[in-house]
Amino acid sequence: MGMGYVEAMLAGDRWEVAYICEADPVRRAWAAQAAPRAAVLSDAQPVLSDAALDVVGIFTVSDLRPTLIRAALAGGFHVITEKHTAADLAAEQALLPQIESSGKMVAVNLFNRNAWYHRRAMEFIASGQIGRLAIIRICQMMPGPMPGEGQSPEGPPFLDAGLHYVDLARWYAGSEYSRCHAQAVRTWGEQTPWWLAAHGQFANGVVFDITQGYNYGQLAREKTINCYTEAVGTQGVVRLRHDFNQVHIELFGVGGTVRQTNPHGDKKLDVFCDIFARSLDEGKNLGFATANDAFIAGQIARQMLEAAMADDPPSIGDSRDIEEIIVHRNYLRSLAGPQEPSGG
Ligand SMILES: NC(=O)c1ccc[n+]([C@@H]2O[C@H](COP(=O)([O-])OP(=O)(O)OC[C@H]3O[C@@H](n4cnc5c(N)ncnc54)[C@H](O)[C@@H]3O)[C@@H](O)[C@H]2O)c1
Repeated sequence: MGMGYVEAMLAGDRWEVAYICEADPVRRAWAAQAAPRAAVLSDAQPVLSDAALDVVGIFTVSDLRPTLIRAALAGGFHVITEKHTAADLAAEQALLPQIESSGKMVAVNLFNRNAWYHRRAMEFIASGQIGRLAIIRICQMMPGPMPGEGQSPEGPPFLDAGLHYVDLARWYAGSEYSRCHAQAVRTWGEQTPWWLAAHGQFANGVVFDITQGYNYGQLAREKTINCYTEAVGTQGVVRLRHDFNQVHIELFGVGGTVRQTNPHGDKKLDVFCDIFARSLDEGKNLGFATANDAFIAGQIARQMLEAAMADDPPSIGDSRDIEEIIVHRNYLRSLAGPQEPSGG
């Protein structure tokens, strides 16, 4: 992700990348080539004590993040960061008041909020085209990272990726979660569910269902995914689908139908960095997700996972499936290169 931020910042004219700090020498070599004007370091200390900087970006995995965020705020810097702000809820909760009382802007990449298609859909809803919003349905099912392939501090799929959809439903609803039921299934002999569906309602009465699964057709000859968002109102419907390349939006409003297909935009780091730069210029949040948004999404995702686990979800398949899948995925990687979408 750090490489992605460097590329996004250098591609525009809003950012000057002064330092890149990276523990891995191979990645440092990449950084030196990608950003020849930046100082490339292995130790963050010189960065955190350079008063000439405005912003520090923190794109390590989440267990290191609280220490780095505290150090950046103590140095007087604004912060742009990946989720989660910490590896567990207690650490996130302890950090939140320090962030909120710092007087600095801290933007967390909950990437759906930077997506042109969700912004377009929400404008349509806000204009009254679907009447009163009643139902939000979100699904992300894909052959995602396998057990052991993700970064352990980020947690199981529903915490690592599902939290993005927990945040998305809350953003559409414009309200806080009030109750939910969750069902999971464990596949391939794993203790941790690789699929979870939750449904429930928000305080304002809007109801939701969210399905997130990384166990979707791993050994199918043809790769397939199923990713959609639907918002059903009292009068109309908003429907979005994507395949990580293109997004198809269909907006069925009382005044007419809008159909549009445009590129997905991958992680939208260019949009996120631009929103943050403009927010810094204007001294107010122009649309980035905050540490509080990330905390709530992480907290609710954990509650959903715990609720599903409390019901002793069924276990289907065994570890021989995993062995076969890993061999198949390594073969596909050897054909297609290492990059694959990990969220979205
Ligand atoms: N929004 C998304 O779609 C999305 C996708 C992938 C990852 N993420 C998040 O981004 C974060 C990073 O994920 P990643 O896949 O890039 O991880 P990664 O392990 O590939 O990269 C983390 C980097 O941090 C470096 N590092 C660790 N400790 C360091 C230190 N003390 N000083 C300097 N560098 C240090 C490591 O060498 C590594 O290169 C995670 O929190 C993950 O949840 C978000």
